[in-house]
Amino acid sequence: MLRSLLCVSFCLPVSLMLAAEPAGLPAVVHPADNPTTPEKIALGKQLYFDPRLSGDDTISCASCHDPAKGWSNGDQFATGVGGLKGGRNSPTVINSAYYKLQFWDGRAKTLEDQALGPIQNPIEMKMTLEEVIPKLNKIAGYKEQFQKVFGTDVTEVGVARAIAAFERTVLSGDAPYDKFKAGDKAALSEAAQRGMKLFFGKANCSACHSGPNFSDSAFHNIGLDSADEGRFVISKMTGDKGAMKTPTLREIARTAPYMHNGSLKTLEEVVAHYVKGGNNNPTQDEEIFALKISKEDEADLVTFMKEGLASASYPNIEKPELPK
Ligand code: HEC
Ligand code: HEC
Repeated sequence: MLRSLLCVSFCLPVSLMLAAEPAGLPAVVHPADNPTTPEKIALGKQLYFDPRLSGDDTISCASCHDPAKGWSNGDQFATGVGGLKGGRNSPTVINSAYYKLQFWDGRAKTLEDQALGPIQNPIEMKMTLEEVIPKLNKIAGYKEQFQKVFGTDVTEVGVARAIAAFERTVLSGDAPYDKFKAGDKAALSEAAQRGMKLFFGKANCSACHSGPNFSDSAFHNIGLDSADEGRFVISKMTGDKGAMKTPTLREIARTAPYMHNGSLKTLEEVVAHYVKGGNNNPTQDEEIFALKISKEDEADLVTFMKEGLASASYPNIEKPELPK
């Protein structure tokens, strides 16, 4: 009763202001020093799609995290300014709002901390902050919006905060899996239901791909053939050698190739990797072991991921008009 009374006075205006998260996802937490507003999100969206943030005006965040390609980009390794390639696969930006740490190795704490990294990375956008801030201040449309949103000219902090606020709107939920969980038994095919049972049971996937975002936000070495030391470089703990952050599996059918090194081309190859039980390297996670499941089970697991975790309300955000 009290709640509904409160709601009459408060809930309606709040819900009109900010879109709710898709079904099945928890509320996105906004940092206290970066409260979100529709104007800030609109500004962050322009910056996200703007190649003028790069050294030669060719690369934007969307070049490697493209909405048309699952907010990843389909290449094994990301290609930045001048065609230079890094050693890691572009992860999707979808639901990155829910991770406790950002990057495969978790070296950034928040989306705000993360956002300025790629701009300055010589093999990504190859720009310096000393150059990009005055460059953006010369674009009247940005200067005006920064004044409105932050009460300042374009600043580093403002760029990071606006992009992060936009990224927190890139969400995928309300998939057939969520509908099924909420009681709609027709939402998943029988094969997908069998796959789901395996995922949460015998195949042990949910040991790490857990919770509404299918990620424990923790680091594991899953036994891939890779020289990348992953989390170890940050934590210096021997057990973290080769450990990477568990990625979300939402919209996973859109983001091939897979893994930090893009080494597995299809979901069938991914499942075959887990069935084999990794490569038994010295720091392989104990939750990775050879699975005793049939070929049909493997196919069902793939069906569950493809069908169950693809949402009809996929965040298919288009490039906005950029300010002049
Ligand atoms: C040249 C390609 C490229 C560009 C341009 C690029 N990224 Fe990335 N992004 C990557 C790669 C590769 C990683 C993974 C790097 C790692 O983990 O070491 C990554 C990681 C991320 C992550 C972490 C996601 C996670 O699951 O931890 C976010 C968020 C992100 N990028 C956002 C951005 C934003 C915002 C921009 C623009 C300011 C941007 N990226 C520009 C390639 C790129
Ligand atoms: C021990 C924890 C753990 C278990 C168990 C586990 N995963 Fe993973 N999964 C991860 C981690 C960590 C990665 C990223 C590894 C890397 O790139 O080095 C990953 C990556 C993936 C990817 C690729 C995601 C992407 O964006 O590239 C898929 C798909 C996947 N797992 C599906 C599964 C399935 C299906 C199962 C069960 C058969 C499973 N996982 C079991 C931790 C786990």
